[in-house]
Amino acid sequence: MKRVGLVGWRGMVGSVLMQRMREENDFADIDPVFFSTSQTGKPAPDVGKEGVPPLQDAFDIDTLKTMDVIVTCQGGDYTTEVYQKLRDAGWQGYWIDAASTLRMVDHSVIVLDPVNRNVIDAALDKGVKDYIGGNCTVSLMMLALGGLLEQDLIEWVSPMTYQAASGSGAKHMRELLNQMGALNGAVKSELEDPSSAILDIDRKVTDTMRSGEFPTDNFGVPLAGSLIPFIDKQLDNGMSKEEWKAGVETNKILGRSDNPIPIDGLCVRIGAMRSHSQALTIKLKKDLSVSEIESTLAGANDWVKVIPNEKDATMEELTPAKVTGTLSIPIGRIRKLSMGPEYISAFTVGDQLLWGAAEPLRRMLRILQE
Ligand code: HSE
Repeated sequence: MKRVGLVGWRGMVGSVLMQRMREENDFADIDPVFFSTSQTGKPAPDVGKEGVPPLQDAFDIDTLKTMDVIVTCQGGDYTTEVYQKLRDAGWQGYWIDAASTLRMVDHSVIVLDPVNRNVIDAALDKGVKDYIGGNCTVSLMMLALGGLLEQDLIEWVSPMTYQAASGSGAKHMRELLNQMGALNGAVKSELEDPSSAILDIDRKVTDTMRSGEFPTDNFGVPLAGSLIPFIDKQLDNGMSKEEWKAGVETNKILGRSDNPIPIDGLCVRIGAMRSHSQALTIKLKKDLSVSEIESTLAGANDWVKVIPNEKDATMEELTPAKVTGTLSIPIGRIRKLSMGPEYISAFTVGDQLLWGAAEPLRRMLRILQE
């Protein structure tokens, strides 16, 4: 059985990873060792088996070195602090990481096995030891488009995203809810009176979100009742870093960075909790019928689900409210655009913490045990 060190298992992504590992009984097949940056010596979490040692120091290279595999959701700063020291100390184990730090380095593979199992297997054969989870929007888009990607039917994609608060972190989710509460609180009595004037309500809401009292410590600006059309750092070419990731990560995942599919669009934060949505404009390499496109998409993996382009089905099935907390990847609104027969639209939604972060990591751990 592999000795598996788990770091950052208490944070938001780590907690979702723990939940999935418990659900899938993953702990039965590994010797888990839990690490902590602050609580060394405290009891390990209960994972349904005896003999799990107390929490180890997440910065102790000598202890980390005794692991066959390390799975970390501790974040990029931890990776930067610890990874190279471990390798320099001669550690040869497998490093599975949710953070973006090592995604684009030559010695890593970005893992999304329902889409790139061939790339992962080839890397394992070559002795690659670093397996990194992809950006959430990228992984969710690729699971949805898996069928078209697999058959190399896509000339380019422009994803316009509607990204949930969770992508920024737990504090941001709380702040979104506090903002929603503040807006509601500002007009509570007017809302209770059906004869109150909607424009008065709107003015009060707008005044509230613009006031210095409005809680914006984390987002910096209002999100509730508004949106933020810039995610992550600004790059020199006008792109946001989140937008840059779509193209470079997708092509790295597919193992075709030297022959990339152009993938570029705008990334926007909206007031959803933990499911990212994306409106896709796709240019296909050939004129396929909508039903051919739908069947190609539907057959690609166990999680993608084609939603017919009908109003009721779309409103029921293709929303964060429906998808959150599940591994389902619905894709719908598939239709030909007026630009020409090769141009199609699609809309997809996925849980940003499940397939978007935790699930590819636990599946990579499983692959190492095959
Ligand atoms: N960068 C993503 C976001 C989340 O801000 O929504 C992590 O992949």
